[in-house]
Amino acid sequence: MKIVIIGGTGRIGSKACAILAMAGHQVVAAAPSMGIDAVTGEGLADALTGADMVVDAANSPSFADDAVMAFFRSATGNLIAAARAAGVGHYVALSVVGTDRLQDSGYFRAKSAQEEMIAASGLPYTILRATQFFEFMGAIAGPADGDTITLPTARMQPIVSDDVAAALASVVLAAPANAIREVAGPEAAPIADFVDRWLKAQGDPRRVIADPQALYYGMPLEDATLLPAAGARIMATRFDAWLAAQGGAK
Ligand SMILES: NC(=O)c1ccc[n+]([C@@H]2O[C@H](COP(=O)([O-])OP(=O)(O)OC[C@H]3O[C@@H](n4cnc5c(N)ncnc54)[C@H](OP(=O)(O)O)[C@@H]3O)[C@@H](O)[C@H]2O)c1
Repeated sequence: MKIVIIGGTGRIGSKACAILAMAGHQVVAAAPSMGIDAVTGEGLADALTGADMVVDAANSPSFADDAVMAFFRSATGNLIAAARAAGVGHYVALSVVGTDRLQDSGYFRAKSAQEEMIAASGLPYTILRATQFFEFMGAIAGPADGDTITLPTARMQPIVSDDVAAALASVVLAAPANAIREVAGPEAAPIADFVDRWLKAQGDPRRVIADPQALYYGMPLEDATLLPAAGARIMATRFDAWLAAQGGAK
């Protein structure tokens, strides 16, 4: 089958491309650096000609409120139109667990807009929401400009990017759910705890202060805001095993 992966050069998109190509599919990695731009529409119609599936694993280059909303609205509008014109049989998009509970954030308002446009498109679709990637822990820790980092005690259940890509590839090849599905890693623990383990593995001397009132990207969290619902697919790779495979303490 011909599968077009928008954001096919990104962290998840490139891994999903590799998995689907290994399975014998004709895979097109679509991204601005490949001459295919979902926001301007450049190259989209050609890329989608004859496609059976389209996967949106792109992300906005800017997370500023207006820019990220403009990105997901324009890209999703163009992708829906191109998928409809090409007669694509399954439209798959990657989103984030808890998107609907994080609406104080401009980024998550934009992800909600993307999800709603897809659900209203009339195209056969599946939205796969993933929890935070293991690789995102350094971004949560933030730049090293102090001795301590104050982080929430609310729990998260992160997942390694390889497992996200594997789950995304299986969703692509399954029948459209016409619904949201979720995928997460195997372990739930406080955000402060995961980041502390990540810092120690990097040999980063910063100390984590766990504070139930601390904000997450400016937002207050309930304990379960970032956790998947019952019925989520749970992937196997454990955080400590991933840390050890990264080389452990440096
Ligand atoms: N970070 C997390 O913890 C997390 C958790 C759950 C879900 N997600 C979701 O996962 C998705 C992918 O994230 P990621 O970290 O894998 O992204 P990423 O590594 O930043 O990759 C972004 C991709 O989007 C492409 N792109 C940028 N602008 C584009 C445009 N105008 N048209 C087409 N493609 C464009 C980039 O292409 P170039 O290479 O040409 O720039 C790149 O291939 C996002 O939707 C995000 O919401 C993230």
